[in-house]
Amino acid sequence: MNEKPVIISSVNAIRKQLDVFRSSGQTIGLVPTMGNLHQGHFDLIEEASRRADRIVVSIFVNPMQFGPHEDFDAYPRTLKTDCNALDGYGCDIIFAPTVREIYPKGINTEIDVPSLSSILCGQNRPGHFKGVATVVAKLLNIVQPNVAVFGIKDYQQLQVIKTMVSDLQMPVEIVGADITREPSGLAMSSRNTYLSKEERSVAGLLHQSLIDIGNALKCGRDVSLALKTARQSLKDAGFTIDYIEIHNAADLNQPLIEAEKAVILIAAKLGKARLIDNLIVPLGSQCSGGPPSV
Ligand code: PAF
Repeated sequence: MNEKPVIISSVNAIRKQLDVFRSSGQTIGLVPTMGNLHQGHFDLIEEASRRADRIVVSIFVNPMQFGPHEDFDAYPRTLKTDCNALDGYGCDIIFAPTVREIYPKGINTEIDVPSLSSILCGQNRPGHFKGVATVVAKLLNIVQPNVAVFGIKDYQQLQVIKTMVSDLQMPVEIVGADITREPSGLAMSSRNTYLSKEERSVAGLLHQSLIDIGNALKCGRDVSLALKTARQSLKDAGFTIDYIEIHNAADLNQPLIEAEKAVILIAAKLGKARLIDNLIVPLGSQCSGGPPSV
């Protein structure tokens, strides 16, 4: 494994390098990112390293997944720091293409997973998942990895990608890796850099709310009351809630009543940051006072 990854920005060059790895029988793992790397990303890379011989980390802020009034221009671009941070993490290639390299002729082909793209985050972010699915399909076509690792934090995104890969019969294993959290419970995210010190000190409440709702769900307590209480305490702490919803974890569109596991999903704005988080709750499991096991 390389100690220092090579940085490649062209599709032709990465294909050539990957052919060399493949011709000696080595498997490829891909970790797609938009950069501004943090421990959550390093954990995804570790997960990929357990499953493949050579690791590609892509760093590409994808314009297609940002709405017109979203933070595409403000999104933190920290390529130099990211490349330095990846030294020693077992990453072989950093694929950092330009927008022109990925969309040389603009956007003429789009990939849509409509059943999953208009619910939850899709309600307030029309076109977002089309942008995600299209760029991930492109990255999978360019790198042709054996395995690609995504964070479970973006639960809906992961379901969109899994559905796309299955429907388009793409020969790649999609792995969801656990959420990495700050000691406060705040899920790590590149957008956490938008939080002020004061906002950061209350941001862990998002995870606590998920735990409280999860415990009500597991213990057969009044879930609507738990939802109401969570909404109120988040509002009191300064959050503007986009949604808090409970879905069937196996299929976000299937009824909860048939679920073995539920997933509680939350999206809320705190200052300039739009935060998302989720918690998987096994149903029919033992009721305990502590956080539900994930
Ligand atoms: O989760 C992200 O960082 C992005 O949505 C992804 C998967 C890299 C696609 O741009």
